[in-house]
Amino acid sequence: MIGLKIPKDIANDVRKSLLKNSLINLDFKIEREKDYVIIPLLNEPKMDLFSEICQDKCEIIDTDFEMQKRSPRSLKEYLEGKIDPKKIEEIRGSFDIIGDIVILEIPEDLDEYKHLIGEAALKFTGRKAVFKKQSEIKGIIRTRDLEHIAGEDISETVHQEFGCKLMLDVKKVYFSPRLATERKRVADQVQDGEIIVDMFAGVAPFPVLIAKNHNVKIYAIDINNDAYEYIKRNMELNKVSDKIIPISGDVREVLGDKNIRADRIIMNLPGTAYEFLDSAIETVNEGGIVHYYEFSDDFQKPVERIKIAAYPRKIEVLGKRKVRSRSPGMWHMGIDARIF
Ligand SMILES: C[S@@+](CC[C@H](N)C(=O)[O-])C[C@H]1O[C@@H](n2cnc3c(N)ncnc32)[C@H](O)[C@@H]1O
Repeated sequence: MIGLKIPKDIANDVRKSLLKNSLINLDFKIEREKDYVIIPLLNEPKMDLFSEICQDKCEIIDTDFEMQKRSPRSLKEYLEGKIDPKKIEEIRGSFDIIGDIVILEIPEDLDEYKHLIGEAALKFTGRKAVFKKQSEIKGIIRTRDLEHIAGEDISETVHQEFGCKLMLDVKKVYFSPRLATERKRVADQVQDGEIIVDMFAGVAPFPVLIAKNHNVKIYAIDINNDAYEYIKRNMELNKVSDKIIPISGDVREVLGDKNIRADRIIMNLPGTAYEFLDSAIETVNEGGIVHYYEFSDDFQKPVERIKIAAYPRKIEVLGKRKVRSRSPGMWHMGIDARIF
């Protein structure tokens, strides 16, 4: 098996560069030999990649390597012995897997280990690409900056959830696999024959899941044109083109222009959905249901907002839950309310 023999004093810099280029075979141990280390390689590297660091002091050799003893059960376990145990503790074990892509959160002081962590994530998950979160979710279209740290530099993938195929580009559109259970919960409440509006549809995970399981008509609206394009792709991929009407634009204008009436409205834009409650109330039929989401520390605030927006119509809260934690004490709340 091939390895790169490197003088000890430059081994760390060369190792980082190899990691960055996904060249290290992580199934085998790095060997040590007097003043040299030998790193197991997956492929022969182009030596000009390292010419500045190596200056003719590194050599490709054919040798045997010892297998890593245990197969890793978790990302943390995989990194044990490779980076400082205290630092391993800082790594967020929880990460998102979207189709072939892993998205990781790496604390700032672990930035120098990002490629090592990326490679470990690649190996551990068997996916194709690893990205590091570079910002919070931001802006109207709710995307975040991502840095590619390992594997192939691809950002489009197909994610599978409850039998649905969702094609999306993690850099261009919002998508969270952590909302899968919430989507199922809402989809399970739908009755055949309903007209539904998803006001902030993204790539249409709610509409596709609902349409695959019910005989309904769903307006899937999003202001992000890339999301709109993926809605159309996902309708085809899931063979639900006859049940979903994709619309690109600002939902307030769309609903104002088209005079749509609905039995059920989904409002998954938890930061600012309250600004659109008046549109939702105008659109929802008597006895219809609104699934409203808001970042809040209690249930009272989102429920009050629905009551105020609906007035003089009456509301009945059918369900309320903490969908997921956003930050300490702050929750992504979900309220199901019937509007009379
Ligand atoms: C949090 S994402 C939710 C996406 C989707 N419901 C899901 O569960 O994956 C919110 C979406 O609302 C869209 N959006 C934001 N403001 C909008 C507006 N005024 N009209 C229509 N869509 C909007 C964004 O582009 C984004 O795709």
